[in-house]
Amino acid sequence: MAGNKILFICNSCGYTSPKWEGKCFSCGAWNSFEEKEILPENTREKRSKQWKDEEKSGKSKPKPISEVQLGLTTRISTKDSEMDRILGGGIVPGSLILIGGQPGIGKSTLLLQTALGISKKVLYVSGEESEEQIKMRADRLSSSQTTAYILAESNLSIILSEAQTLAPDMIIIDSIQTSFSPYVDSGAGSIIQIRECTSELLRFAKETKIPVFIVGHITKSGDLAGPKLLEHIVDVVIQFEGERNYNYRILRTLKNRYGSTEELGIYEMMENGLKPVDNPSELLLSQNTENFSGSSVAATIEGLRPMLIETQALVSAAIYGTPQRSSTGYDLRRLNMILAILEKRAGLYFGQKDVFLNIAGGLKIADPAIDLAIVAALVSSLEDRAIAKNVCFSGEISLTGEIRPVKNIESRIKEANRLGFKKIFVSANNLKGINKSNFNIEVIDIGKVIDLLQHIF
Ligand code: TYD
Ligand code: MG
Repeated sequence: MAGNKILFICNSCGYTSPKWEGKCFSCGAWNSFEEKEILPENTREKRSKQWKDEEKSGKSKPKPISEVQLGLTTRISTKDSEMDRILGGGIVPGSLILIGGQPGIGKSTLLLQTALGISKKVLYVSGEESEEQIKMRADRLSSSQTTAYILAESNLSIILSEAQTLAPDMIIIDSIQTSFSPYVDSGAGSIIQIRECTSELLRFAKETKIPVFIVGHITKSGDLAGPKLLEHIVDVVIQFEGERNYNYRILRTLKNRYGSTEELGIYEMMENGLKPVDNPSELLLSQNTENFSGSSVAATIEGLRPMLIETQALVSAAIYGTPQRSSTGYDLRRLNMILAILEKRAGLYFGQKDVFLNIAGGLKIADPAIDLAIVAALVSSLEDRAIAKNVCFSGEISLTGEIRPVKNIESRIKEANRLGFKKIFVSANNLKGINKSNFNIEVIDIGKVIDLLQHIF
């Protein structure tokens, strides 16, 4: 239409440009620009009308903060202890919750399971699977629930009008990338669609007080596919992670307007759905009674939960020229750093060795306290001497080779004690105000990496 402005919008980051670009200036993506017609007059008119309406209704007036009334927000329990914990004690009415994760990790399974488990009217909308597929999955989760409704649809207008008629207590949209708003002239999954659909869902959630879960896919690099902006719009962002070939899954809060982001949920993927894991340590420790070299136990904390986890290293002579370094569940750059520290500060040479590292269960551990156990496992494999099974480690390694203190050391020691460990190695600076004789477990404090070598075997 004459007079309409044409803009080009980058599909991966939302950057706008007056002309088409091969490469986005902002995010560097290639061939990501999409043409978009802007209707300036129309939008302006609409907006000023909206402002006038709001003015008339008088609902947005400044008021002293002391006069703001807190509604009695009763959170809805999902009947799933891990999910409730993650959300800060249940679902807040009217909240918009984004759950991200790689394909096949179990997002649909988790949300369908939540829909079936909660004794409320839930609308599960899928733009990815047919009704039969969803039913088959529900049967697999062996549920006889009757208050869950399914809708295989991706047109958001239809979804919202059906939702209004059904008036459920909760809505699940699987996924935001397959949803589209007919009012926007752009393909499903494009940044414009994602932005529009999320905003519409936000408006819907706030107006109706019905909480809405949306599933978001994750790109290879681990970001939520689509715009970062999505994360700004929603109230809660949770991430479902794990290695596909292992059964453990971690649910992590990245943002929560209604609670802490320190919490963490752990599940095990079974044949019939996801089972919450109450006692992760017991699963993540090897049940072997035999001692092997290259294996050690780290006393870590994920979220607020202490967790003992086995780490394994294999150090062997590099046969083919360049030594290999490989790591599962631990940052490879950090492994290289630890190897350099061991060389410089403890005189241990890994230069001509292949080094493989593996964290049990395929979990990714973000807690830096795992460093000390990794050092122990590396040294144990290098020297081919086993570390006793009842010993564990907790400490971060600094570039100077010192052992740094880590947070919540007491809960780590208590967890190690509870699981029957006899010795725990911690940083010497970690024990201020802590009485070692309070524990049944022997607490050994060390200052430097090199001191560890004298004590571990
Ligand atoms: P899915 O939930 O579809 O993942 P996403 O929605 O994140 O893409 O499926 C995850 C995988 O879980 C799938 O490969 C099959 C498996 N699975 C189980 O192991 N047990 C089960 O009970 C179900 C329903 C699925
Ligand atoms: Mg899915």
